[in-house]
Order: sequence, then structure tokens, then C-alpha cells
Amino acid sequence: MPESLLDTRVPAVLLRIDRNPFHHGTLGAVRSLGRAGIDVHVVADSTGSPVRKSRFVRQLHPPPPPGATLADIAATLLRVAARVERPAVLIPMDDAGAVAVSRLREELAPAYLLPQQPGSVPERVADKAELTRLCAAADVPHPLTVIPDSAAQAASAAWRLGLPVVAKWSRPWLLPADSGLRSTVVVRSTQEARDLYLRTPEAGSQLLLQAFLPPGQDRDWFFHGYADRSGAVGGGGPGRKLCAWPRGAGLTAVGEWTENPQVRTLAQRLTDELGYRGIFDLDFRRCGATGDYHLLDFNPRPGAQFRLFADGAGLDVVRAQHLDLTHRPLPAGVPLPGRAFVVENYAPLAALRPARRGRELAWHAGDDTAPGRAMWGLWGAHVARRLLDRLRRAGASGAAGVRPRVVRQATPPMPSLTDLTEPPPSTPAPSTPVPTAPAPAAPTDDEKASSC
Ligand SMILES: Nc1ncnc2c1ncn2[C@@H]1O[C@H](COP(=O)(O)OP(=O)(O)O)[C@@H](O)[C@H]1O
Ligand SMILES: [Mg+2]
Repeated sequence: MPESLLDTRVPAVLLRIDRNPFHHGTLGAVRSLGRAGIDVHVVADSTGSPVRKSRFVRQLHPPPPPGATLADIAATLLRVAARVERPAVLIPMDDAGAVAVSRLREELAPAYLLPQQPGSVPERVADKAELTRLCAAADVPHPLTVIPDSAAQAASAAWRLGLPVVAKWSRPWLLPADSGLRSTVVVRSTQEARDLYLRTPEAGSQLLLQAFLPPGQDRDWFFHGYADRSGAVGGGGPGRKLCAWPRGAGLTAVGEWTENPQVRTLAQRLTDELGYRGIFDLDFRRCGATGDYHLLDFNPRPGAQFRLFADGAGLDVVRAQHLDLTHRPLPAGVPLPGRAFVVENYAPLAALRPARRGRELAWHAGDDTAPGRAMWGLWGAHVARRLLDRLRRAGASGAAGVRPRVVRQATPPMPSLTDLTEPPPSTPAPSTPVPTAPAPAAPTDDEKASSC
């Protein structure tokens, strides 16, 4: 994209409330806008993050404090605005940020350029209970979902849906960081469903139990886009998750731009129906039995792998938002199906393989090498710390003769996207407590789909 297409007088502010040093989507946004000549400000916890090394970061700003209230977030953003000194395009990079910005719209509006979202749409789509209702209203397939209102109901719903089931907290951004609770977990017994329900007060939102759609080859799809002032969707497209981390239920470690008219139609139908404006990232899983594409998640912000969809004109969702909010036309670029996106720390071998139809790496870039180098050092230290923790925990539980019971987002026996075997693991009898082996430490927020 010629640099002149973007209005370089208008800076961009990227907001990330979730503390995740390995969020490659933030780096993607920094580079995309920075390469187009935009001053990029990052409001995030960048300590120990490779993003801080990017030559395209104009300035780093401290994020809102942990457990920030809406007023704290407003204060942080207005402080940043005062330093930036010019109205800027504000792009939240996580759900917590998107929800806060949508609630603070009026307060932020003079300092920040924001899409004209109707009402509380970002909050509604990010809320998984509300998403179930929105899908029903728009006739978009969605897994059968039950919202229990007692522990006994949670157990019976899990049994009725058929174990294993997927348990989700409706507003995952409210989960306390130190609770050990995960946004989405696979529940394998009625007892687990009951136990999880009892943690509702801690989780801060409703528990949902959802029919489990088995993974398999070509079952996981996503759609990224930017809905402009007229509602037209650009800057993205449909893609396939070729490899996930954690396997079978995680972020896109390897993705490929793949045309899919059904996924495109569903995305357009839902955003039209909602009058959605701005950047979005949808996750779908195809049901092996019916062939229907079920919408699993609606993220009202860029997905971490959004750079997969940089088209022939260099347009992506963050550039589309900047162009649209500065009243510039979006260039009509050529779509590049077959283009791949690889997150090197989760799929190092895929990053080494030759890519015939174009590929972007999440961390390494020839014109901005420092973040890629920093990532390997920081990632090595992170993995070593996790292994040590795991050994310590195994030692401690061995000494006490008790094994930790860990609810995990994905369990090893579950077929993953990269395993081509079809059926889910054999299900334990209902009410049978699942003996849980000392798990590889549960995925941290930096490693799971929800934060990406
Ligand atoms: N009903 C389901 N059946 C099977 N897998 C699911 C289901 N819902 C979610 N998953 C898996 O869990 C991942 C995370 O779920 P999602 O709803 O996107 O929550 P979040 O990203 O907020 O953690 C999905 O990408 C998918 O791999
Ligand atoms: Mg998700």
C-alpha cells in the first residue's frame, strides 16, 4: 500500500488490558500501521514483551492497573490522549479493552476516533450467553447451549448434552487472573460440571455448557473483517486453522487464507443483522455430522492472526479502520488465498518449511528484526520457568501423595486439528470423577485462544 493512502497526521493508539507479553497480534498492528507511516502508541504491559523492541512503536504507555475499573481505564486513555495531543484512532486489542471502549465511547470521543457502533454491540457479542441468543435470532448455527442456574442443573445439563461438554464463562474478561479459571474448558464428568458451577461467584459471570463439536481436519475456520461506516466488510476474509495451540482448542499457530462462501455469508449476515461497525474476528467449527459451520466466538477486535489477510494492496483490518475513520477510501486489493500465517513459537517447524503462496511470520520480519530475536530469548525463559514450576508442583504433590486436579482447556487424548483421527476420546461414565494426571501446566493467558 503506498504510504500516502493513510492519513499520517492521525496517530493510532493500541490498547491491551490483558497482560500477555506474547501477544503477536499487537506486534502485527504496530508494524502494519507503523510501516504506513502512522505514529503508533501502545498502551499495554510491555515489560518482558518483544513488542517493545519494534522500531515501529512510537511510544509505550503504561496500561490501566490490574483489576482496573472503567474509570481507571478512562483515566489512562485520557492521559495518553493528552500526551498524543491529536485525535487518534483507538484500537482495542483484547475483549476487555473492546468492551471498555464501547462503554466509554462518549467520554473518549473527542480525543479518539471510534467506529459508530450501535448501542452496546461489542459487549453483547463478546458475552457468550448473549451470543447464543444473537445466533438464534440471526439463524446462524451455534452449538446447543444450556445456562444452568444451580449445581444440580449443571450436572444434569452436562449429562443431557452428552459428555464431554464444553464449559464457558459468559464474560471471560471478568475472570480474576489468579483464580486458575479458564475461559473455556472441556468437562468430562457431571461432577466437574457441578464443581465448576460452584465457582460462579469467583468467575463473575454465568457458566454455559455447550455441546462438544469434535475437532478434525478442516473443521476450524475463522473470519476477520472490518465493517465500515456503510456496513461493507473489508480488510479480511475467511481462513482455516491448520494447527492450533493448545492442540485442538487454541489459538491459530498456523492459518491459511481459504475462500469459503458459507463462512463469508454467515459473517456478513450476522454483522448486517447487528449493524456491527469496526473490526471483528469470528471463530467457527464445522459439525462433522451436518456440515454446518457453528459460530463459537465473536471477538469485537482484531484476532491475533489478522495479518494473514493482508491483501494485494496491503490492506488489513487495522489499516481499514484507520482509512475509514479518517474518511479515506479503502483500496480494492486482490485477495490472496493460500497465503499463510505462522506463529513461530507455537509452530517452529512450520515456520521453517517453504511457503509457496506467501507467508507472514508472527514475530520475525526482515525490516524489524529485534522483536523476533527478543521473542526467542523471552520465550526460552518463559518455557524454562513453566517447566520448573511443573517439576516443583509434581514434587510437592508427590510428597503429599495427592495429585493436583487441573481443569484444562485441552487434554492430550483429544484429537487435535493436526490429528486426523475422528472420534472424541471415550467418555467416562457420568458422575465418575475423572482422575486427572498432573497436567502440563494449564495454558496461561498468553497461550490460549481467548486472549488471542
Ligand atoms: N462447542 C465447542 N465444541 C468444541 N470445541 C469448542 C467449542 N467451543 C469452543 N471450542 C474450542 O475452544 C476454543 C476456545 O473457545 P471460544 O469459545 O473461542 O472461547 P475463548 O476464545 O473466549 O476462550 C475454540 O477456538 C475451539 O477450539
Ligand atoms: Mg475464541
